[in-house]
Amino acid sequence: MRSGWVAIGVALLATGLSAQSPANPRSGYVGSQTCGGCHAISKKQQLSNHALSLRAPGDISEIYGSLPFQFQDRSSQAILTFRKNARNQLELEASKGGQRELLTLRWAFGSGVRGITPVGVRSDATIVESRLSWYPSEHAYSLTPGASKNDPQTAIESLGRTLSLEEAQQCFSCHTTDYTPGPSGPMLNEMGIHCERCHGPGLEHVRLMAGPAPPASGQDRKILNPARLKAFAQLEMCGACHGKPPRDTDLSALQFIEQTPQTARFPSRRLVLSRCFNESVDGLKCTLCHDPHINVSERRAQRDQPCIACHSERLRAKARTCPVQQSDCVSCHMPKERVMLNFEFTDHWIRVAWVKAPKGSK
Ligand code: HEC
Ligand code: HEC
Ligand code: HEC
Ligand code: HEC
Ligand code: HEC
Ligand code: HEC
Ligand code: HEC
Repeated sequence: MRSGWVAIGVALLATGLSAQSPANPRSGYVGSQTCGGCHAISKKQQLSNHALSLRAPGDISEIYGSLPFQFQDRSSQAILTFRKNARNQLELEASKGGQRELLTLRWAFGSGVRGITPVGVRSDATIVESRLSWYPSEHAYSLTPGASKNDPQTAIESLGRTLSLEEAQQCFSCHTTDYTPGPSGPMLNEMGIHCERCHGPGLEHVRLMAGPAPPASGQDRKILNPARLKAFAQLEMCGACHGKPPRDTDLSALQFIEQTPQTARFPSRRLVLSRCFNESVDGLKCTLCHDPHINVSERRAQRDQPCIACHSERLRAKARTCPVQQSDCVSCHMPKERVMLNFEFTDHWIRVAWVKAPKGSK
């Protein structure tokens, strides 16, 4: 069975992921610390959810703060216990009858906006996605998305879902910067999504910019600046992780996305259905509404500005104005869509088709 998180990976398996990763990912990477020496944005980026989306469990104090944590699994009746082992590592134990199985948790996926899923390695080197995830909003461990569909019987099955090497590699390639699939498992370099995941390896850029004759603006600075990408190319870049956008000739994919509300999880797949995207002169880039270096919460107060910029009386020739309301556009035209049991995603298919009343309004 697939977990809820993995559904993303599966949906995107055939995407440009490999196009995003250079043939030899190690070469030419300098690490975000180096970028931070010259670019002030690094301070904020390091605290962003992109950067925090993969960490060592030991770096997440709130997980450790509530140990040991016990949970009785309803399927197997096993008792699951999270605790610190003698080497101060996070460990999951499943015990049932006389059986006792252990999983050493090495990686924590997710900043915690929705949840944090630990992934670990069993003594036989199998990689396992923990059956329990940490939910900061509830301050507790509970079933990992998708885990309720599995029906473990034994202690070992109760630890979680076994990931094939290939699947584990997919998780890592979306949640790390410079990732190398290793012969004996994933070798991780910079955990979380930092500068060079989006800008490409920076060694040449750093040499040039720190050298005696740094190129002036307009000259090649040997680093990708995605600001120069056209809208669809940018959607594809972000879409390596946020959902591969279909081309406008791929009618069956467009139809599938239109008819499947769960695709709201993939902003880049939904956005291309919007008239705002299709009828604007230069399309609609993710970065018109998002600064990918910071979290959405930091821009919430300004989130209607891009809408108003196009849909204002002044620019009426470009896009119509709303007959209903001149503020809080997002709450009516980009409502949240419930995708998994407890998770809502902002629907990036901007439209009036099924405007729902925003929560708390009349
Ligand atoms: C030695 C200082 C230095 C370091 C280290 C450095 N940069 Fe730069 N970078 C600059 C300067 C100076 C510019 C030009 C002014 C600007 O855009 O901030 C620049 C420009 C850029 C641009 C815009 C390029 C363009 O053509 O428009 C990007 C993107 C960028 N840097 C990313 C990075 C990343 C990612 C790293 C780390 C891998 C990094 N930089 C490390 C100095 C540096
Ligand atoms: C194709 C890229 C991709 C793959 C593969 C992938 N993820 Fe993710 N993951 C994302 C994106 C994008 C998000 C944020 C949006 C969302 O939740 O759908 C995310 C969100 C998450 C979150 C929630 C983060 C939070 O703070 O709320 C967890 C936990 C997570 N992934 C774990 C995993 C695990 C474990 C695997 C492998 C079994 C995996 N992911 C595979 C791209 C991916
Ligand atoms: C999730 C992808 C992503 C990550 C991670 C990321 N960037 Fe960017 N960066 C972008 C995009 C997209 C743009 C273009 C923004 C725009 O068009 O407004 C950009 C623009 C820039 C620019 C040029 C700004 C300008 O004025 O033209 C610099 C410099 C830069 N990033 C540095 C960094 C550094 C340093 C880091 C790491 C601390 C980093 N970025 C991490 C996606 C990313
Ligand atoms: C390498 C995969 C990857 C790429 C490329 C990527 N993202 Fe993300 N993005 C993620 C993951 C994973 C998360 C969830 C992080 C978490 O909370 O754990 C995320 C979260 C976000 C968020 C929510 C941040 C918040 O406030 O919680 C925004 C907005 C976002 N990405 C926009 C972008 C944009 C725009 C681009 C392209 C410039 C982009 N991303 C490229 C993987 C990626
Ligand atoms: C880059 C410019 C641009 C931006 C930004 C933009 N739109 Fe649009 N939008 C358009 C254009 C062009 C159309 C099609 C012509 C029209 O409706 O006047 C459109 C159409 C619409 C429609 C009508 C859809 C339909 O099916 O008839 C709605 C509703 C809408 N936009 C709301 C929004 C909201 C809300 C935002 C902000 C979240 C937004 N737009 C951002 C350009 C934009
Ligand atoms: C309270 C919910 C609500 C809010 C808030 C809201 N709208 Fe609307 N909007 C609607 C409804 C309902 C319609 C359809 C009206 C109709 O067809 O008579 C509509 C229609 C539109 C249209 C299509 C116009 C047309 O002539 O058919 C656009 C464009 C639009 N809205 C943009 C926006 C923008 C931009 C904002 C923020 C400045 C906004 N809306 C705020 C509910 C809302
Ligand atoms: C017209 C504006 C607009 C564009 C364009 C846009 N977004 Fe968003 N996005 C939003 C708004 C508004 C939210 C909700 C922000 C909030 O909760 O405050 C959001 C939320 C998100 C989130 C957080 C998770 C969620 O579902 O709430 C992610 C991830 C995201 N966007 C990614 C993207 C990516 C990737 C692109 C490009 C394919 C993109 N967005 C393009 C307006 C936009």
